[in-house]
Amino acid sequence: MTIDDGTSRYTSPPSEAPTIRVVAMPADTNPAGDIFGGWIMSQMDLAAGSRAAQRARGRCVTIAVESLTFHQPVVIGDEVSIYTRIIKTGRTSMVIHVETWRRERHARVSFKVTEGIFTFVAINSERRPRPLPDEGD
Ligand SMILES: CC(C)(COP(=O)(O)OP(=O)(O)OC[C@H]1O[C@@H](n2cnc3c(N)ncnc32)[C@H](O)[C@@H]1OP(=O)(O)O)[C@@H](O)C(=O)NCCC(=O)NCCS
Repeated sequence: MTIDDGTSRYTSPPSEAPTIRVVAMPADTNPAGDIFGGWIMSQMDLAAGSRAAQRARGRCVTIAVESLTFHQPVVIGDEVSIYTRIIKTGRTSMVIHVETWRRERHARVSFKVTEGIFTFVAINSERRPRPLPDEGD
Protein backbone atom coordinates (compact mmCIF):
# COMPACT_ATOMS: atom_id res chain seq x y z
CA MET A 1 0.00 0.00 0.00
CA THR A 2 1.25 3.49 -0.83
CA ILE A 3 0.51 6.22 1.64
CA ASP A 4 0.61 9.71 0.16
CA ASP A 5 1.82 11.80 3.07
CA GLY A 6 2.33 14.80 0.82
CA THR A 7 6.11 14.48 0.69
CA SER A 8 6.52 11.63 -1.83
CA ARG A 9 6.26 13.96 -4.82
CA TYR A 10 9.43 15.67 -3.60
CA THR A 11 11.58 12.53 -3.27
CA SER A 12 11.69 10.93 -6.73
CA PRO A 13 13.75 12.96 -9.18
CA PRO A 14 13.01 12.67 -12.91
CA SER A 15 14.53 9.55 -14.46
CA GLU A 16 16.36 11.43 -17.23
CA ALA A 17 19.73 13.14 -16.77
CA PRO A 18 19.67 16.68 -15.34
CA THR A 19 20.27 19.52 -17.78
CA ILE A 20 22.89 20.94 -15.40
CA ARG A 21 24.36 19.87 -12.06
CA VAL A 22 26.37 22.09 -9.72
CA VAL A 23 27.56 22.21 -6.09
CA ALA A 24 26.23 25.05 -3.91
CA MET A 25 29.21 26.97 -2.53
CA PRO A 26 29.69 29.43 0.39
CA ALA A 27 29.83 32.36 -2.09
CA ASP A 28 26.23 31.55 -3.10
CA THR A 29 24.64 32.21 0.32
CA ASN A 30 22.28 34.92 1.54
CA PRO A 31 22.99 36.89 4.75
CA ALA A 32 21.25 34.15 6.82
CA GLY A 33 23.62 31.47 5.52
CA ASP A 34 21.24 29.53 3.26
CA ILE A 35 21.78 29.43 -0.48
CA PHE A 36 20.47 32.66 -2.04
CA GLY A 37 17.19 32.25 -3.94
CA GLY A 38 18.49 34.49 -6.72
CA TRP A 39 21.41 32.12 -7.27
CA ILE A 40 18.99 29.19 -7.62
CA MET A 41 16.84 31.20 -10.05
CA SER A 42 19.87 32.00 -12.18
CA GLN A 43 20.84 28.31 -12.29
CA MET A 44 17.28 27.48 -13.38
CA ASP A 45 17.46 30.17 -16.08
CA LEU A 46 20.81 28.78 -17.28
CA ALA A 47 19.41 25.23 -17.46
CA ALA A 48 16.25 26.30 -19.28
CA GLY A 49 18.34 28.45 -21.64
CA SER A 50 20.54 25.49 -22.45
CA ARG A 51 17.47 23.33 -23.20
CA ALA A 52 15.96 26.14 -25.32
CA ALA A 53 19.15 26.71 -27.34
CA GLN A 54 19.37 22.98 -28.03
CA ARG A 55 15.75 22.83 -29.25
CA ALA A 56 16.02 26.08 -31.25
CA ARG A 57 19.53 25.24 -32.48
CA GLY A 58 20.62 28.80 -31.86
CA ARG A 59 20.36 31.83 -29.67
CA CYS A 60 17.38 32.25 -27.33
CA VAL A 61 16.35 34.74 -24.66
CA THR A 62 14.17 34.50 -21.57
CA ILE A 63 10.96 36.46 -22.15
CA ALA A 64 8.96 35.43 -19.06
CA VAL A 65 9.02 33.50 -15.81
CA GLU A 66 5.42 32.56 -15.26
CA SER A 67 5.78 30.89 -11.86
CA LEU A 68 8.49 29.98 -9.40
CA THR A 69 8.00 28.10 -6.13
CA PHE A 70 10.59 27.46 -3.42
CA HIS A 71 9.56 24.28 -1.56
CA GLN A 72 12.65 23.82 0.61
CA PRO A 73 15.99 25.58 1.21
CA VAL A 74 19.32 24.60 -0.32
CA VAL A 75 22.41 24.59 1.91
CA ILE A 76 26.16 24.86 1.32
CA GLY A 77 27.65 21.69 -0.15
CA ASP A 78 24.41 20.39 -1.63
CA GLU A 79 24.61 18.85 -5.09
CA VAL A 80 22.02 20.79 -7.06
CA SER A 81 20.50 19.12 -10.13
CA ILE A 82 18.23 20.98 -12.51
CA TYR A 83 15.84 19.15 -14.80
CA THR A 84 14.08 20.79 -17.74
CA ARG A 85 11.19 19.71 -19.93
CA ILE A 86 9.72 21.61 -22.87
CA ILE A 87 5.98 21.52 -22.27
CA LYS A 88 4.84 23.73 -25.16
CA THR A 89 6.24 25.28 -28.31
CA GLY A 90 4.81 28.09 -30.41
CA ARG A 91 6.08 29.67 -33.62
CA THR A 92 9.13 31.20 -31.92
CA SER A 93 8.64 30.44 -28.22
CA MET A 94 9.19 27.50 -25.87
CA VAL A 95 7.55 27.03 -22.48
CA ILE A 96 9.89 25.06 -20.21
CA HIS A 97 9.13 23.40 -16.88
CA VAL A 98 12.16 23.54 -14.60
CA GLU A 99 12.70 21.53 -11.39
CA THR A 100 15.59 21.85 -8.95
CA TRP A 101 16.60 18.92 -6.75
CA ARG A 102 19.11 18.93 -3.87
CA ARG A 103 21.14 16.03 -2.54
CA GLU A 104 23.15 16.46 0.63
CA ARG A 105 26.80 15.87 -0.17
CA HIS A 106 27.00 12.57 1.77
CA ALA A 107 23.41 11.38 1.33
CA ARG A 108 21.67 9.23 -1.25
CA VAL A 109 18.18 10.70 -1.10
CA SER A 110 17.21 13.80 -3.12
CA PHE A 111 14.52 16.41 -2.54
CA LYS A 112 12.74 18.71 -4.94
CA VAL A 113 13.42 22.25 -3.77
CA THR A 114 12.07 24.53 -6.50
CA GLU A 115 10.03 24.43 -9.68
CA GLY A 116 8.95 27.00 -12.21
CA ILE A 117 7.79 27.77 -15.72
CA PHE A 118 10.15 29.71 -17.98
CA THR A 119 9.40 30.96 -21.51
CA PHE A 120 12.17 31.46 -24.05
CA VAL A 121 12.08 32.97 -27.54
CA ALA A 122 14.45 31.98 -30.33
CA ILE A 123 16.06 35.09 -31.83
CA ASN A 124 18.06 35.90 -34.95
CA SER A 125 21.20 38.00 -35.38
CA GLU A 126 19.05 41.20 -35.24
CA ARG A 127 17.68 40.00 -31.87
CA ARG A 128 14.22 39.54 -33.41
CA PRO A 129 12.05 36.43 -32.91
CA ARG A 130 13.02 33.57 -35.20
CA PRO A 131 10.78 30.59 -36.10
CA LEU A 132 11.72 27.37 -34.36
CA PRO A 133 13.15 24.73 -36.66
CA ASP A 134 11.22 21.46 -36.96
CA GLU A 135 12.28 19.01 -34.28
CA GLY A 136 13.64 16.57 -36.83
CA ASP A 137 15.63 19.14 -38.84
C1 LIG B 1 12.21 38.29 -26.88
C2 LIG B 1 11.87 39.53 -27.74
C3 LIG B 1 12.88 39.61 -28.88
C4 LIG B 1 10.48 39.26 -28.29
O1 LIG B 1 10.11 40.37 -29.03
P1 LIG B 1 8.55 40.71 -29.24
O2 LIG B 1 8.45 41.81 -30.20
O3 LIG B 1 7.92 40.82 -27.88
O4 LIG B 1 8.08 39.36 -29.95
P2 LIG B 1 6.63 38.86 -30.31
O5 LIG B 1 5.53 39.74 -29.80
O6 LIG B 1 6.68 38.55 -31.78
O7 LIG B 1 6.52 37.48 -29.49
C5 LIG B 1 7.44 36.45 -29.74
C6 LIG B 1 6.96 35.23 -28.98
O8 LIG B 1 7.01 35.49 -27.57
C7 LIG B 1 5.75 35.23 -26.97
N1 LIG B 1 5.55 36.19 -25.91
C8 LIG B 1 5.52 37.54 -26.02
N2 LIG B 1 5.36 38.08 -24.80
C9 LIG B 1 5.28 37.06 -23.91
C10 LIG B 1 5.10 36.97 -22.51
N3 LIG B 1 4.97 38.06 -21.74
N4 LIG B 1 5.09 35.76 -21.93
C11 LIG B 1 5.22 34.64 -22.68
N5 LIG B 1 5.41 34.65 -24.01
C12 LIG B 1 5.42 35.85 -24.62
C13 LIG B 1 4.73 35.42 -28.11
O9 LIG B 1 3.56 34.72 -27.83
C14 LIG B 1 5.51 34.84 -29.27
O10 LIG B 1 5.45 33.44 -29.22
P3 LIG B 1 5.14 32.54 -30.56
O11 LIG B 1 5.94 33.10 -31.70
O12 LIG B 1 5.59 31.15 -30.20
O13 LIG B 1 3.68 32.63 -30.81
C15 LIG B 1 11.88 40.84 -26.91
O14 LIG B 1 10.76 40.85 -26.04
C16 LIG B 1 13.14 40.98 -26.08
O15 LIG B 1 14.23 41.18 -26.61
N6 LIG B 1 13.03 40.87 -24.73
C17 LIG B 1 14.18 40.94 -23.85
C18 LIG B 1 14.79 39.54 -23.65
C19 LIG B 1 15.88 39.60 -22.63
O16 LIG B 1 16.69 40.49 -22.61
N7 LIG B 1 15.89 38.57 -21.72
C20 LIG B 1 16.81 38.54 -20.62
C21 LIG B 1 18.17 38.06 -20.97
S1 LIG B 1 18.21 36.52 -21.84
